[in-house]
Amino acid sequence: MLSVGSTNQRNDLAVEIVRDLSDFMKVVAIRASVFLAEQDCPYDEEFDHNDLSSLHLIAYLRGEPVATLRVRWFANFAKIERVCVMKHVRGGAVVKLMIETAVDIISRKGYTLAIGYIQKRLAPFWKQLGFLPREGRSDFRFSDYEYVECQRVLPARMDAITIDSDPYVVMRPEGAWDRENVLDRSASRPAVA
Ligand SMILES: CC(C)(COP(=O)(O)OP(=O)(O)OC[C@H]1O[C@@H](n2cnc3c(N)ncnc32)[C@H](O)[C@@H]1OP(=O)(O)O)[C@@H](O)C(=O)NCCC(=O)NCCS
Repeated sequence: MLSVGSTNQRNDLAVEIVRDLSDFMKVVAIRASVFLAEQDCPYDEEFDHNDLSSLHLIAYLRGEPVATLRVRWFANFAKIERVCVMKHVRGGAVVKLMIETAVDIISRKGYTLAIGYIQKRLAPFWKQLGFLPREGRSDFRFSDYEYVECQRVLPARMDAITIDSDPYVVMRPEGAWDRENVLDRSASRPAVA
């Protein structure tokens, strides 16, 4: 099982959740270099007002931020978006570790369905990651690319967070559900009311 802070020692890779504005600046830098500079995406289409409501991941190679994605949350599915790896590190293990970390977070939160709108030319690549075209859905176009809706069905897991989970677990930072934190420790103080 993966978890946030997933590492691949052999390749010196780590995947982390964005937790503050300094991390978020790394996301903007990576996406600007890939989608704005490389794919000529207009700024307003890339930074579409959904970033502050998303969970973002960053992959680090030897400490350097090199890849990112975001996850948006809906009632019964999570949607993986803006997957990109900086050009000089493509073709390695980065994207796989990042996607598997995202899938792990999504399933731990209790979702059994992850979807992505995949650039059509990349459908074979996404198939290797377990994302298959959704039947009966038409291709569509935005930001100058053809897209296909893909999904990956995730097994329900015993440790999924539910409404009946321990409140201290639910309160912990995203992805750090198994690590005691300040709010756990605050419980040792007497309640004032
Ligand atoms: C898609 C991406 C994240 C994959 O990361 P990666 O595995 O490290 O990168 P690679 O360039 O080795 O691509 C993986 C596979 O996709 C294929 N691929 C990548 N770009 C492609 C393109 N423009 N057209 C067709 N196939 C492409 C590669 O040929 C490769 O196939 P292979 O595994 O059979 O060799 C990376 O190519 C990327 O960041 N691309 C730019 C951002 C982007 O388009 N994101 C949209 C995702 S829907």
